[in-house]
Amino acid sequence: MNIAIAGAGYVGLASAVVLAHVGHQVVCVDVDEAKIEQLKKGPCPIHEPALPELMAENLSRLTFTTDYAVAYSNTDAIFIAVGTPEKADGSANLSYVFAVAEQIAASVTCDCVVIVKSTVPIGTNEKIEQHLKSHLKHDVTIEVVSNPEFLSQGTAIRDMLYGSRIVVGTESESARQVMANIYENLEQPVVFTDRRSAEMIKYASNDFLALKISYINEIANLCEVLGANVEDVARGMGMDPRIGDKFLRAGIGYGGSCFPKDTKALHWLGNFHDHELKTVKAAIEVNENQKLRLIKKARKYYDSFEGLIVAVLGLTFKPGTDDLREAPSLVNIPIMLDSGAKVKAFDPCGVEKFKRKVSGNIIYCDTPEETLKDADICFILTEWPEVLELQPVHFLTMKRPIILDGRNCYDPGGMEGYPLVYDSIGRTVVSYLD
Ligand SMILES: NC(=O)c1ccc[n+]([C@@H]2O[C@H](COP(=O)([O-])OP(=O)(O)OC[C@H]3O[C@@H](n4cnc5c(N)ncnc54)[C@H](O)[C@@H]3O)[C@@H](O)[C@H]2O)c1
Repeated sequence: MNIAIAGAGYVGLASAVVLAHVGHQVVCVDVDEAKIEQLKKGPCPIHEPALPELMAENLSRLTFTTDYAVAYSNTDAIFIAVGTPEKADGSANLSYVFAVAEQIAASVTCDCVVIVKSTVPIGTNEKIEQHLKSHLKHDVTIEVVSNPEFLSQGTAIRDMLYGSRIVVGTESESARQVMANIYENLEQPVVFTDRRSAEMIKYASNDFLALKISYINEIANLCEVLGANVEDVARGMGMDPRIGDKFLRAGIGYGGSCFPKDTKALHWLGNFHDHELKTVKAAIEVNENQKLRLIKKARKYYDSFEGLIVAVLGLTFKPGTDDLREAPSLVNIPIMLDSGAKVKAFDPCGVEKFKRKVSGNIIYCDTPEETLKDADICFILTEWPEVLELQPVHFLTMKRPIILDGRNCYDPGGMEGYPLVYDSIGRTVVSYLD
């Protein structure tokens, strides 16, 4: 089939590459000229494992352009995969989605299916269809299908190739057939439903995962007070199939482009319809506090950051991506800088993006070892492999080896006997420092 995709971001690009891989002819459209130029010439503009390799394998079925009018004019299906960021009031900003709808309406010259992959509030697919129909320049039939995406950054290609399910919201038999054809070479269960339910599946899934993370983080904080070990607690809970062992890793909170905005957007929507989602509200509040957990812990060791050298290991919101959206580093590092710290930071992928967002007294280091040297305290914010590989002795080059681990990277037992402090999330503090 001929497919156009609006948006060459984490979702649009991964979708384009995977759909080309399963045999479709795909044109990927973006308004960002620099990104399209880079996609044509390389290297791949985003860091996502396996994406560059799969892209290189399928270049014969893949093109990139800023010329939306040509791309949308004569195609079987158009995916909308542009961003739906958070507005100041927490609701979803749909301006990019509707801008694409206008471009489609102005360009299509034959019947086609418009597939909304962006995460949009319940009822939006209907509005997009109305908008398209009222702006069409040619006498064509357009059907709008909801097809939310469930990939995770860092494993996007694997998630798309071997996902747990494909959700398709449509009440049209012909659109359903188009969707079945698009995905026929991906062996995944397809959940067919109406558009509103498909939109709700996406929000309900993301918000449930956010809730699960906030729940284990609250339990972890209580474990610290009561002397229990959250890793053992999570293991014991996770063996119950009714609970499951995923998303039970305690840490300094979730970040990224989805959970923060999708929890706020559904909470906003609930309030708008006079149905406050109290559990979702709690997940949001717990997460905001959890991001400051290490800052609070630091107060046990120093009254202030004034004059301290702080080693920060990890800037991105998780390993395997260069994405910084809602990363704990964006909250923690400005607090350190504002209170007079000098920061030494390590991240294998996120440094360039971080420099564009935060400035100040920061030295960027090429290795965790270099970062740790002479530091007064260390914050671990992302569990990159380079960080996981560190041994206790590597921390002994710090001026005072106080390790605050927001990702529970190491076994506290392995820290026993070394002249350091190892303070992680939901576990007993190891302290052999005078
Ligand atoms: N990132 C994820 O892990 C993930 C997972 C599931 C769902 N989603 C959802 O998918 C959507 C896209 O997320 P993302 O992370 O890929 O966003 P992104 O910010 O990485 O990419 C969006 C792209 O759309 C482009 N764009 C904006 N206006 C355009 C237009 N008129 N025409 C063509 N391109 C345009 C931007 O330049 C950008 O490159 C969001 O709704 C998000 O919630 C994201």
